[in-house]
Amino acid sequence: MTDTNDQPPYIDLKGIRKGYRIGAEMVSIFSSLDLAIAGGEFVAIMGPSGSGKSTLLNMLAGIDGPDGGQLRIGGKRLDQMGESARSAWRAHNMGIVFQFYNLLPMLTAAENVELPLLLKPLSARERRIRTEKVLDLVGLAGREKQYPTLMSGGQQQRVGIARAIVSDPGLLLCDEPTGDLDRKSADEILAMLGFLNKEMGKTIVMVTHDPQAARHASRTLHLDKGEFVEERSAA
Ligand SMILES: Nc1ncnc2c1ncn2[C@@H]1O[C@H](COP(=O)(O)OP(=O)(O)OP(=O)(O)O)[C@@H](O)[C@H]1O
Ligand SMILES: [Mg+2]
Repeated sequence: MTDTNDQPPYIDLKGIRKGYRIGAEMVSIFSSLDLAIAGGEFVAIMGPSGSGKSTLLNMLAGIDGPDGGQLRIGGKRLDQMGESARSAWRAHNMGIVFQFYNLLPMLTAAENVELPLLLKPLSARERRIRTEKVLDLVGLAGREKQYPTLMSGGQQQRVGIARAIVSDPGLLLCDEPTGDLDRKSADEILAMLGFLNKEMGKTIVMVTHDPQAARHASRTLHLDKGEFVEERSAA
């Protein structure tokens, strides 16, 4: 699926420039990166280590800004926002799923999932209802009080996904969500992402090294030498 209708792309990057200073030297990662993703797509991003996949996700997440170019998501110019506006935007519009889950070990599954809701004007009861709903959705009903350190990798990633969707964002950004999992758990997590995309309309951008993972996506983009090469379009 590409944006052939007259709807503007949901994610729209034009001429993105990004580099890092290493000692006295500026190393360029992207000199003019373009990317257009329509709302409702599930896009897999592949590419060699060091090609800039995480750099790109961090820019989409508003964690890091580009050095130049235009970065629009949902019509908003993220590149023109200050840091606090970007974090507020992030809290309302996107969920992030990490390779190593990034759960807090001293909090229970439910407390981890509830965290993003603490920024919102919700009652404790409303927070609990929403938390239980998403834990149920990811197949962890009844495990609210369990600590993540006592869970399998696949279960921890389910908690990570529940936390990412508890605020009901339209966009999910996933950086190697199955990179730490065995095949079976990885497939379960991928099926869950597919469900969130197809049944709940989430737009998903997933960085992965796993060709099997890319198969769940509607489109795969290969990042190489600072540019995208389209690999395959699903029918
Ligand atoms: N904060 C930073 N400071 C300096 N250089 C950085 C920084 N972050 C990333 N880089 C460099 O930028 C390049 C791209 O890094 P990035 O992490 O985006 O790659 P990646 O495609 O995600 O790799 P991997 O597949 O290993 O996760 C690498 O050469 C990396 O060393
Ligand atoms: Mg990376």
